[in-house]
Amino acid sequence: MSAPPPPMSLLAELTHRCPLQCPYCSNPLMLDPRTQELSTTEWQRVLDEAALMGVLQVHFSGGEPMARPDLPELVRHAAQAGLYSNLITSGVLIRQDTLRALADAGLDHIQLSFQDVDPASADRIANMAGAHAKKLEAARLITAEGLPLTLNFVIHRQNAERVPAMLELAEQLGARRVEIAHTQYYGWGLLNRDALLPDRAQIEATTEAVAAARTRLAGRMSIDFVTPDYYEDRPKPCMGGWGQRFLNITPTGKVLPCHAAETIPDITFPNVREAGLAAIWEDSPIFNLFRGTEWMPEPCQSCAFKEEDWGGCRCQALALAGKADAADPVCHKAPDHKQVTQAIAQRPQTPPPFRYRRFGNA
Ligand code: FES
Repeated sequence: MSAPPPPMSLLAELTHRCPLQCPYCSNPLMLDPRTQELSTTEWQRVLDEAALMGVLQVHFSGGEPMARPDLPELVRHAAQAGLYSNLITSGVLIRQDTLRALADAGLDHIQLSFQDVDPASADRIANMAGAHAKKLEAARLITAEGLPLTLNFVIHRQNAERVPAMLELAEQLGARRVEIAHTQYYGWGLLNRDALLPDRAQIEATTEAVAAARTRLAGRMSIDFVTPDYYEDRPKPCMGGWGQRFLNITPTGKVLPCHAAETIPDITFPNVREAGLAAIWEDSPIFNLFRGTEWMPEPCQSCAFKEEDWGGCRCQALALAGKADAADPVCHKAPDHKQVTQAIAQRPQTPPPFRYRRFGNA
């Protein structure tokens, strides 16, 4: 088999530590402890290897990546290696001096997450008093520093009606781009699905609000919109296809094709402490497991869209159908599609309390 083209993006999860406890966090239920995190020199070697194999962008993420005091050093190293760098942050640890250090190190872009526009609701979702006020201040500091800013709002049944106000806030804060992204349901999101899953009327209302804002803000601010695929007929091309465009490195150095891949049982994940990044990308069993189309079962194998959706999401297939190589149950042709329709039908009228993301709460 010929070597696959290099990935475009690397998600560097520097730490799982975070002051927030969002109930839809994309981190695994078993969080990595600080004592086992990769060191500065280990991350620097990974960044060099990534640039050498053709990766274009590094997204510094977490947890909260600003919990790592060596972040400016890593940003500088990425810039020197020729990588475009993006910081994915909650903003609650941003101060003027730390932001200036990142800008001086060559940071290209910041993606700042918000939980809501209503401060009480936002702080409740993040389970951190005062978080929303800190984020507003962070946005002000970022634009004053001249760094390009994207705002990310995670949408669910407990904040969906405030999407129009979220878009107004993004405009007021000077964001160039805003993401209105509905929660996806694996890991903590799956654990809290009944507390998060919107109904169809909420999806329609948010779709209309985004369409109206796109018209109003054309040429001034771009809007990305991600719907929950539970209400779609066809699966999403998760990660742009398994092992095709993206790789994820966990705080302890495991290399994954997606952020939820650790849910797949009986797999030994390769680690940058034991092997080179290019060799892992090209040859490791986990990256080749669902690469391309040969692994696909029916009805995916004979589907006209198999090279558009690449079989959907493997982690969702595992979560809902019990097998990572099953057809993604979101697809209306999948044998396990009823898992999705039942989750929607059995959604309780009143959302249950959140199970917050924190060490030991899974
Ligand atoms: Fe793992 Fe979609 S999240 S394949």
